[in-house]
Amino acid sequence: MKVLKVIGNQPLSGTIRISGAKNSAVALIPAALLGSGVSTICNVPNILDIDSLEETLKYLNVKVTRASESILIDTSGLENKTIPYELSKKLRASYYFMSVLLANFKYMEMSFPGGCEIGTRPIDQTLKAFRLFGAEVILEDDKFIIKADKLTGAVIPLDMPSVGATINAILVGVKAIGKTIIKNAAREPEIVDLCIMLNKMGASITGYGTSEIEINGVENLSGTNHDIISDRIEAGTYTIIGAICGNNLKITNINPEHIKSLTDNLALMGANIEIHDDYLIIDNKNELKSIDIKTDYYPGFPTDLQQPMTSLLTQSNGVSTIEENIYENRFMNVPYLNEMGAHIKIDGRKAEVVGPTKLHGCETKATDLRAGASLLIAALKAEGETTITEINHLLRGYEEIVEKLTNVGAKIEIKEI
Ligand code: EPU
Repeated sequence: MKVLKVIGNQPLSGTIRISGAKNSAVALIPAALLGSGVSTICNVPNILDIDSLEETLKYLNVKVTRASESILIDTSGLENKTIPYELSKKLRASYYFMSVLLANFKYMEMSFPGGCEIGTRPIDQTLKAFRLFGAEVILEDDKFIIKADKLTGAVIPLDMPSVGATINAILVGVKAIGKTIIKNAAREPEIVDLCIMLNKMGASITGYGTSEIEINGVENLSGTNHDIISDRIEAGTYTIIGAICGNNLKITNINPEHIKSLTDNLALMGANIEIHDDYLIIDNKNELKSIDIKTDYYPGFPTDLQQPMTSLLTQSNGVSTIEENIYENRFMNVPYLNEMGAHIKIDGRKAEVVGPTKLHGCETKATDLRAGASLLIAALKAEGETTITEINHLLRGYEEIVEKLTNVGAKIEIKEI
């Protein structure tokens, strides 16, 4: 079993470069299957989720060539096959394959998608979109069969601005006959990235980045070259690490606009942060004030930074609250933080954090990806050694996390026990 060992309380200084965005990459790679020929996607993070997607591509007889930060996808051999549970369970984004296979072949079969267990995570909005395009959705045991004689553009009103449902509706809409309008669409930068790539492939999409996306369907798309945007959640995680134990820590290759909801809150807390065009510098010199935060859809405070932020709030002065409005079960890091010395109470969707408290190392478990990040942040601040088990969750989403942190002075290693 692989575990992460961290000896905390080391000042971190130097530079951390942010990688390509996981949640863009996991959409753009399936999207490449909509184009005939070859696509090259660059700035791809080297994380376990991409390995899982590569496995599915190869299973579908797609030729994949990976270099250090790029992936070349040749769709000429693409076959329409049932995606089994062993592949679909590995990540949430496997359901983007549902859409691309449906768009290409008007028929697809796949088991239920996996992903972090942070709530019930229904996919009703995606299935609603498929039906509005004219498809029939059949649930057989744990497998979806989705078929259509033809896919016709439609008005798709989403009940909530779901990232996944917006992406699935885009992936089908670009090849459906006629016009599609997605209402209450998600506005995340990853959606914008996807639309830019699809337009380079020949799609006709406007309005992305707003709540109403309009698509004029086209018959064929071609391959393209595309650079993925940088990962705002990775950038936010390292920025929080800088606020808790940085000594002029420089975070480069970022888009400050994408993490504004975080940096605005850090500034309100009194953190010493300097923001430049594509980098920022942060340290832990200032005393931090308590704050009240509510997670929300983009451009609100991202749920994916709620758990990392909770670790920082253990070091601010006074009572902070953090309300989780996207997922109903995203506090699984809290019992471990409390074992490390934090004072956090959960009441429904709200956590109340009393700070500052001294943290000490202990045995912990990464129950999901961002819970792992939260425990790592606490471990970097804690006195003594922290062990984090189930670190595959962490490695699913953070490229070279041990190397990046070691380079700036952290005492951190992966051990086989
Ligand atoms: N929802 C529904 N029905 C649906 C779809 C969503 O009720 O059909 C609910 C969800 O249960 C949730 C909310 O709507 O309460 C938002 O879900 P959304 O569909 O936006 O999330 P997602 O597409 O499943 C992506 C990211 C998540 C990130 C969320 C929110 C990927 C692969 N995943 O998930 O990333 O938390 O958007 O920003 O893009 C992570 O990186 O750690 C992660 C979990």
